[in-house]
Amino acid sequence: MAVAGFGVLAWMARDHLLPETSPMQRGAALAEDLDCWSCHAAALRDPDHAAAPSLFGGSRRPQEIARRIREADGHTRAISDAEIASLVAWIAVVQYEADRAAAKAPIRGGLPEVERLARRQCFSCHGDLGQGGVSNPGSLKGYVPGFFGRDYDALTWGDDPDVVREWIRDGLPGFFHWGVGRLRPGLWYSERQQVRMPAFGQTLSPRQWEALARYMSLLRELGPLDASGVVEYRRRLGLPVAEDTSRAASRAPASRRRPRRARPTGRRAREGP
Ligand code: HEC
Ligand code: HEC
Repeated sequence: MAVAGFGVLAWMARDHLLPETSPMQRGAALAEDLDCWSCHAAALRDPDHAAAPSLFGGSRRPQEIARRIREADGHTRAISDAEIASLVAWIAVVQYEADRAAAKAPIRGGLPEVERLARRQCFSCHGDLGQGGVSNPGSLKGYVPGFFGRDYDALTWGDDPDVVREWIRDGLPGFFHWGVGRLRPGLWYSERQQVRMPAFGQTLSPRQWEALARYMSLLRELGPLDASGVVEYRRRLGLPVAEDTSRAASRAPASRRRPRRARPTGRRAREGP
């Protein structure tokens, strides 16, 4: 009986310890593994003279992007539907970020303004649109969690507003301090990580904490974002679903185009953004 009990516990824990990724992250990794850059990187430098077009400068419609990947004459290698789904999700997020960077309309209020705050303060660690963060040696799972899925729910007690506020304000919720004397497992685990969550209690206002909490709730609801999730996300922010003809992405700043592999250094993490 006891053995069976432990078995069940171990099985449940296993689910929680498995690394969690978003389609966007899987797509970015696949582009490396499947060697997409060998042909498509040149267009990032010189879109007008490259043999293959930019990965991000074409259609904004997921189905059309998938079709082009499937049917491109230049593609000799078979790419599975599952792989294409991840690749398109990744392309959609990169295109979205490029479109937002290129957008000329002023941002006033509402979710787009909160998104801009998150882009400045949070995405560098938690990933574009909170779709999974940079690697984090010394942490339980080895990476900074995104704003979706089991990781987010475990760390915020299912999006509990009090816990989320503590994360933003203090950089660590109160339950991490639970324990007796020096025996505080949460704290011990948290302090071993190379990247630490900064406390925004001084630099952001309570109004901004609440706005960010609402924004993360939306990402939690929609995420992990696949390509149609990105379309839905645009709608929920009240932004037009971009036109197919947009060339913004092929001309976006270089740092936005390649998957983000680098991680912040310990020093940067301690100092915060
Ligand atoms: C051997 C070179 C080569 C490789 C490798 C390659 N592509 Fe392409 N790709 C092309 C060429 C050339 C085109 C232009 C269209 C055609 O050939 O029909 C293209 C077109 C595309 C398009 C359509 C772009 C647009 O704006 O219309 C997408 C999206 C795309 N490729 C994605 C990928 C992905 C994802 C990978 C990796 C799995 C990949 N490609 C690997 C050569 C390549
Ligand atoms: C310097 C990197 C860094 C920045 C910038 C950062 N965080 Fe974090 N954040 C972390 C790390 C690392 C964790 C995991 C901490 C742990 O497990 O002890 C985390 C955890 C969280 C969590 C717990 C749930 C989850 O799935 O991530 C929330 C919520 C959160 N951060 C919100 C934010 C918000 C909102 C911002 C921007 C205002 C932000 N973070 C900026 C590093 C960062």
